Amino acid sequence: MNWDAILAPYGQAVEELKIKLKGIRKQFEYESKHSPIEFITGRVKPIPSILEKSERRGVPLDKIEELQDIAGVRVVCPFVDDIYAVVSMIRSREDFTVAEEKDYVSHKKDSGYRSYHMIIEYPVETIHGVKIVLAEIQIRTLAMNFWATNEHTLNYKYKGKIPSDVQSRLQRAAEAAFRLDEEMSAIKNEVQEAKRIFHRK
Ligand code: GTP
Ligand code: MG
Repeated sequence: MNWDAILAPYGQAVEELKIKLKGIRKQFEYESKHSPIEFITGRVKPIPSILEKSERRGVPLDKIEELQDIAGVRVVCPFVDDIYAVVSMIRSREDFTVAEEKDYVSHKKDSGYRSYHMIIEYPVETIHGVKIVLAEIQIRTLAMNFWATNEHTLNYKYKGKIPSDVQSRLQRAAEAAFRLDEEMSAIKNEVQEAKRIFHRK
């Protein structure tokens, strides 16, 4: 398989999406408004992970474009309600379409994982014309991101079989992250006002 050629449009999609989402952030800055975006990351799924997932899902290698997360972008927000602001901005865009949404913010997963997922159909201009690729956008708060990246690292370390004592710590950490988001939401206006004063100086 010519992986470079197969993955090129996904790399293009990730780079373009990062630029476009960072553009939203800059616009809020110009207008001196609270930005619902703290930072953006993106990646093309590594080949070993693509192979592992297509095997696990029974997706033949000539159909890997069915995998929804080969192109992945993550939008990290300061506050929980910022997530829904980003979701509605993404829904209203005219440069791609939303194919699927999963709200693990209001409905956390059993693991304790929280995030808002959107699968989009993104048109990439190639030398052979337009190619539409699927991309996964994960939208979450800083607290949710802190939890998810640590949990992901532990799953990697323990190959998905996290010992039960660590598991229950993770559950409690998920609850603590949830409470942190709640407490921060309650003082959101105070924080934003302070930021405005700080930036004026
Ligand atoms: P995969 O989990 O990737 O096979 O896809 P899925 O169809 O089950 O979709 P889902 O929305 O459940 O998960 C998609 C992505 O969200 C994953 O690839 C992870 O990046 C992230 N994710 C989902 N569940 C968890 C979780 O329990 N912990 C962490 N750290 N990340 C998760
Ligand atoms: Mg999953």
